[in-house]
Amino acid sequence: MWAILRPNSIAVVGASRDPSKIGSRILRNILSSGFQGVVYGVNPNASEVLGVRCYPSVLDVPGAVDLAVVAVPARFVPQVVEECGRKGVKAVAVISSGFKEVGNTDLEKEVVEIAKKHGIRILGPNIVGVWDTRTPINYSFIDANPLPGSVAFISQSGALMTSLLWWTRERGIGFSCLVSIGNRADVGEADLLALLREDPRTKVVAIYIEGLGLGEGRKFLDEALETSTVKPVIVLKAGRSEAAVEAIRSHTGSLAGSDEVYEAALKQARALRAASLRELFNWALALALSPEPGEGTAVILTHGGGAGVIAADVLNGMGVPLAPLPQDLQERLRKFMPPFGSARNPVDLTGMMTAESLRGALVEVLRDPRVGAVLVWAGQGAIPTPEELGEAVVSAVREVGLAKPLIVSITGGGECREVLKRLIQAGVPSYESPEDAASALAAVYRYYRRRRERKGEPARVEGDRARAKEILGRARAEGRVLLTPVESFEVARAYGIPVVEYAFAPDLETAAKAARVIGYPVALAVETPDVAHKTDVGGIALNIKSEEELRAAYAKVMEVFARNVPKARVFGVSVRKMMPRGFEAFVGARRDPVFGPVVSFGWGGVMVELVRDFSLRVAPLTQDDIEDMIEETKAGKALKGYRGPPLDVEALKNIVASVASLMEDFEEISSVDANPIFVYEKGAVAVDVKVYLKA
Ligand code: ACO
Repeated sequence: MWAILRPNSIAVVGASRDPSKIGSRILRNILSSGFQGVVYGVNPNASEVLGVRCYPSVLDVPGAVDLAVVAVPARFVPQVVEECGRKGVKAVAVISSGFKEVGNTDLEKEVVEIAKKHGIRILGPNIVGVWDTRTPINYSFIDANPLPGSVAFISQSGALMTSLLWWTRERGIGFSCLVSIGNRADVGEADLLALLREDPRTKVVAIYIEGLGLGEGRKFLDEALETSTVKPVIVLKAGRSEAAVEAIRSHTGSLAGSDEVYEAALKQARALRAASLRELFNWALALALSPEPGEGTAVILTHGGGAGVIAADVLNGMGVPLAPLPQDLQERLRKFMPPFGSARNPVDLTGMMTAESLRGALVEVLRDPRVGAVLVWAGQGAIPTPEELGEAVVSAVREVGLAKPLIVSITGGGECREVLKRLIQAGVPSYESPEDAASALAAVYRYYRRRRERKGEPARVEGDRARAKEILGRARAEGRVLLTPVESFEVARAYGIPVVEYAFAPDLETAAKAARVIGYPVALAVETPDVAHKTDVGGIALNIKSEEELRAAYAKVMEVFARNVPKARVFGVSVRKMMPRGFEAFVGARRDPVFGPVVSFGWGGVMVELVRDFSLRVAPLTQDDIEDMIEETKAGKALKGYRGPPLDVEALKNIVASVASLMEDFEEISSVDANPIFVYEKGAVAVDVKVYLKA
């Protein structure tokens, strides 16, 4: 795999004689990128291109080849990869387009199968190429290089990557590598995360994702989580809207999963989710250059109240509140401001600020161990010029060092750009706008906070697999996709989910007997595998207080149900104890095509859709995941005691763990829905459970 980033020997397959063609451009870029290894050309119609010796096939190359970069029309790629295999090449980057993205899925599969047979890793196809600033190498067809630095960027979009080369250069953002992964037929984000985790030159991994492949989500989540423990992973996931999802489908042919699931998975992975390209690279810059924030408050140092307030709002909104500075520090800061300045926080040096007073105040806050991080904002037009502002910051840093995050924003005209770039070169992440600076600082806090969070113990429930298997097997044998209410209760019970007391009754007399045992009041529900929502069709009677009422209710339920859904099969009824109303929560799960089982928890009852108060996590879950799920919702806050005693959250957590384990153990279950679950001060009971099977 490392050969993808750091090859010693390369063969460019399709090294064209025509300088305008992609194969020729790639060769030229490799040669001009300072690559120190051996380069071969492969072209049946040429013996030399750009001074590089060419061979008719990879098989004819005399020396070893670490990496083949392929730029021949798509239909020739399978044969080229086969020859690479026979040559012993272990990494192949396929630049060529014309695969899955245009519907040629079989051709892409063929390439991957040939590669697998030979133990080759394939990057692409449909990529712009790769830059690695340490090797150094540029084997893309773009004649431009990024600034060297410590951000690694992985992108499904080649065009985006290309345009960002210039954008980031302008802003002084440096890269360890840029990897275009295109259709990601083989090497994907997860593989690269595992690689870059070990790369000391990469301090931050930034990823642009359109969609992960079917069933790949969990691997990505695990690799991102593992990586997040040693360096930040920032993800821009496109495709929040339906229109965007459609565009992605026609773009890389990948499957865009539900955005809410990605959101949950990224949280679980402790990755930071950026909302825009600007955020992605602004955060990456700050995280690449900043140490961990210290204890104590963040400080904003400005000469203008407005920018201070704006920055404070952003910080606060992203979970970084500012505290007033200790009195003695305030006293020391007063030396650098007129009497009408403010030393609280934000610190306002006022329009009277000079380069010297900025420097002095900055030294004070950088030195003070009770300050965790510093954000400086200055605007053009004040007495110091942008150059003088920049020099004041650099001089303070030179004196004190950078043991805590220092982020600078200078707002103004073109001159400021140059100053910001110089500050970045001096190791200080710097931005034009105070919002960007504040959001970058908040991202630094967020990363280190998440990194400190425990990974947590696995939340596994070992259920009675044999029992659940038997019930599921019977329903499947009958070709059903929905378990009956009683079957659903049985499966739930097999996994330790407390359910309402119930009994199955094939006829009225058995129902009456069961009700006597359970004790009135009871509820009746038609036992059918064909209708999930029975209330809507008159299949349920509640609050039956006597045998007389039961007999009447039985007749009515059967009659109305049969009239409304004449084709539905009816096996009898279930008799259930009427439970006293508790707090209504729900726990559900479904199978996501990308991430697998996804468990949800939230405010339950008939208004679920309307209330939309829920949280999601990808199973398997840890105890911390479940705790986070509860924390994230209003229901969780209500359960922990809102205008009343705290309810039995632990019982609910166990249900979440049970549902997750059930989904993990039985691939054939497509979804589970326990709603409502009545939660009491002691205990929780699922009043209704629905288990659906895959069609
Ligand atoms: N082995 C070695 N060389 C070969 C082979 C072979 N099997 N077959 C052909 N060649 C040689 C040709 O002789 C030719 O060299 P020549 O010009 O000296 O005769 C060279 O390889 C190129 O072959 P062409 O048939 O001329 O192909 P062309 O260069 O026109 O196109 C390419 C090939 C660039 C791979 C094209 O098919 C393609 O896919 N282009 C799109 C690439 C792309 O956009 N990738 C995604 C980037 S992401 C983004 O930015 C959107």
